[in-house]
Amino acid sequence: MDLKEAMEARHAVREYTDAPIEDEKVKLLQDEIDRINKEGDLNVQLFTDEPAAFDPETLIYGKIKNVKNYIAMIGKNGDDLEERVGYYGEQLVLFAQQQGLNTCWVGTTYKKMHKLMNLREYDRIVLVIAIGYGTDSGVPHTSKSPAAVIRGCTDISELPEWFINGVNAALLAPTAVNQQRFSFRLTEDGKVLADPGRAFFSKIDLGIAKYHFEIGAGKENFEWAS
Ligand SMILES: Cc1cc2nc3c(=O)[nH]c(=O)nc-3n(C[C@H](O)[C@H](O)[C@H](O)COP(=O)(O)O)c2cc1C
Repeated sequence: MDLKEAMEARHAVREYTDAPIEDEKVKLLQDEIDRINKEGDLNVQLFTDEPAAFDPETLIYGKIKNVKNYIAMIGKNGDDLEERVGYYGEQLVLFAQQQGLNTCWVGTTYKKMHKLMNLREYDRIVLVIAIGYGTDSGVPHTSKSPAAVIRGCTDISELPEWFINGVNAALLAPTAVNQQRFSFRLTEDGKVLADPGRAFFSKIDLGIAKYHFEIGAGKENFEWAS
């Protein structure tokens, strides 16, 4: 399964079977986490067979069932941390999908799990990603249209194909409460300006959507405007 197929196949999965993640897949995930920690300057940690953290009685958001494994998205607190967490966390989510695993980003979790984590004094736990074998593979979310998330263009048929492919890929991305507040604009000098919009978690959503955009558009076809 390539990354485009993984984007199509991925949906939030909120109930998991008891099947453990096999040792070889844990190793592959750990290698991928080591890579993104280095590249993204993060302190992401994988917890397997640790059901206590997702004890349904202690979860604020109660609809996630039987989570035994999760990835804690942690990094040094700072202005760009949330976008980086989204961008690199989604790399893990799509990598997991390629390994036949299911995931769900979870922003509302209970503090008890903090005790299990190896935190540096300046670290912040931004959120976690539940991971494992789902009881099903989830369902596609309802989505905004491409035109609803494209800014600065009255006729989207005039936009280059790679840009539309990027937008369509971003619309497959998970966002908190499926809010899809992000937008994209093709600037006069041919770069892409991405905006998070204003909402809770919208910077994390933007990082996720930018990773999807790069896969859809082809990273070689454009540059991000800063
Ligand atoms: C930043 C973020 C936080 C999320 N937090 C939660 C959560 O606390 N509980 C939950 O059930 N789903 C959570 N989700 C999952 C979204 O509800 C889900 O991604 C969205 O409805 C789109 O559905 P999809 O992932 O199947 O495409 C979160 C997603 C993101 C990106």
